[in-house]
Amino acid sequence: MTQVFNKDILQGKVAFVTGGGTGITGGVARAFAEHGAKLAIVSRKEENLAAMKAEVEAFGGECFTVAADVREYEAVEAAIAKTAEHYGKIDIVVNGAAGNFLCAADQLSPNGFGTVVDIDTKGTFNVCRAAFDELKKSKGQILNISATLHYLATPMQIHVSAAKAGVDAITRNLSVEWGRHGIRVNGIAPGPIEDTEGMKRLLMPELKDKLVRKIPVGRFGRIVDIENAALFLASDAASYVNGVTLVVDGGSWLLGTSLM
Ligand code: HXC
Repeated sequence: MTQVFNKDILQGKVAFVTGGGTGITGGVARAFAEHGAKLAIVSRKEENLAAMKAEVEAFGGECFTVAADVREYEAVEAAIAKTAEHYGKIDIVVNGAAGNFLCAADQLSPNGFGTVVDIDTKGTFNVCRAAFDELKKSKGQILNISATLHYLATPMQIHVSAAKAGVDAITRNLSVEWGRHGIRVNGIAPGPIEDTEGMKRLLMPELKDKLVRKIPVGRFGRIVDIENAALFLASDAASYVNGVTLVVDGGSWLLGTSLM
């Protein structure tokens, strides 16, 4: 794809990215580094961190890694402190760590429901809360990776739908409470994105053709579509954009892409 944004739009910025080792958020992290940001990525899995670090350093970027679980506030606080110590500041926080599996509501255990809410919703709050002092100093910003599952209703996804509805509430509330400190808080809601592990795992191949016919623009999204939306929101071009969750789904949710 043609380079859409100038290579230096995030020059000098420090981006702290949870779930930044893989998938959509991994793409966002790499794109931020390609556009000048210094990265700190957080994941539970050391192997995901090492792979992204190698990828970013291969093109001359900087990538600091911290293994932590966003459900544990003390671990999150420590990750923020280590990053601030390493780079001297934090300008951008991306909340991408998320849990997901398909399960019908009548089969889902309370702990299964709670686990996804803990990772997505409480994890997002934990990171925002722990990063507040640094973001206040830098007049920084937060980008929460959400979904469109909860705009209508998505069978087998009650836990993720509830969790992401909570994430959207956090985006709106913090944009109002922290806007006065110069902190912008926005989100991105990706629709069906083809080149993700989640799509491979969650969608059977025979259902893919059926689904793509329901997407108004006639194709699945790609991770780069989300990267470009994130670059826009993180850049000064979006300096008056606050409290928005930008839907990047080719218009899918308006038609409802549920296959049931
Ligand atoms: C039913 C399940 C389950 C499954 C776990 N649980 N997997 N229930 N079906 N497939 C239940 C367990 O039985 C347990 O409840 C509880 O959840 C906790 O499970 P653990 O394995 O102990 O938890 P943990 O190791 O902390 O994490 C589990 C996990 C996580 C949430 C499943 O490993 C995970 O999400 N991995 C995938 C990460 C991922 O793909 N992220 C990208 C998200 S994409 P009980 O009652 O038995 O104790 C995304 C986009 C949304 O979010 C839009 C998509 C269209």
